[in-house]
Amino acid sequence: MVYTRVAQENLYKLFHPRPVYIVAAGTPEKHSFMAIAWLSPLSEDPPRIMAAFGKESFTYQLIKEHGVFSVNILDVKEYEFIFKAGTVSGKDVDKEKLLGAKLVYTDTGAPRLEKPEPIAWVEAKVFKILDDVAEDVDLVIADILAAYAKPKLFNERYGWVLKEARIPLHVSGRVFTTISGFYMARG
Ligand SMILES: Cc1cc2nc3c(=O)[nH]c(=O)nc-3n(C[C@H](O)[C@H](O)[C@H](O)COP(=O)(O)O)c2cc1C
Repeated sequence: MVYTRVAQENLYKLFHPRPVYIVAAGTPEKHSFMAIAWLSPLSEDPPRIMAAFGKESFTYQLIKEHGVFSVNILDVKEYEFIFKAGTVSGKDVDKEKLLGAKLVYTDTGAPRLEKPEPIAWVEAKVFKILDDVAEDVDLVIADILAAYAKPKLFNERYGWVLKEARIPLHVSGRVFTTISGFYMARG
């Protein structure tokens, strides 16, 4: 079998497709949201997530300022919205207006998406930020304060109802896919 060495700038593609989310932060006066694929569960006790945020991202600046944010899970049909949220910065424009989105403010203070309508969202509070792990990103570790999902799409016993829930997965660049198979290990 022949293998070719993968160039540094393409290494991330080996780890995709992976779910892509919309992280939102800020206040009614100053807010933003962004696409994020490098976000993962970290622990169950306590429930924590971790995410790599580009140091320059405006959403990340707002997360540092306010300490709370939301992670919104959309249907794959929103791939254009996700791509735009991931290619325009809220530093320069009001992304909510530009993309025709609507943010609402949760009890934890973080905004979440109402439009496009998420299939689930997580509210999170920063626990720790590691700002010396890379040149391009900081690692944000956050506590999950609350999480909500559409019961038709998410089953507390089995997880996502895969026939119905079409989680967007980012392949690379402008390309997205969704879950297309179902395999149950006999164990
Ligand atoms: C599919 C996709 C996935 C992305 N994943 C990440 C990510 O994991 N971390 C990150 O910092 N930026 C990621 N980005 C880039 C940000 O979404 C982008 O820099 C965005 O414009 C930041 O907006 P803001 O400046 O308003 O926060 C991704 C972009 C796309 C299109």
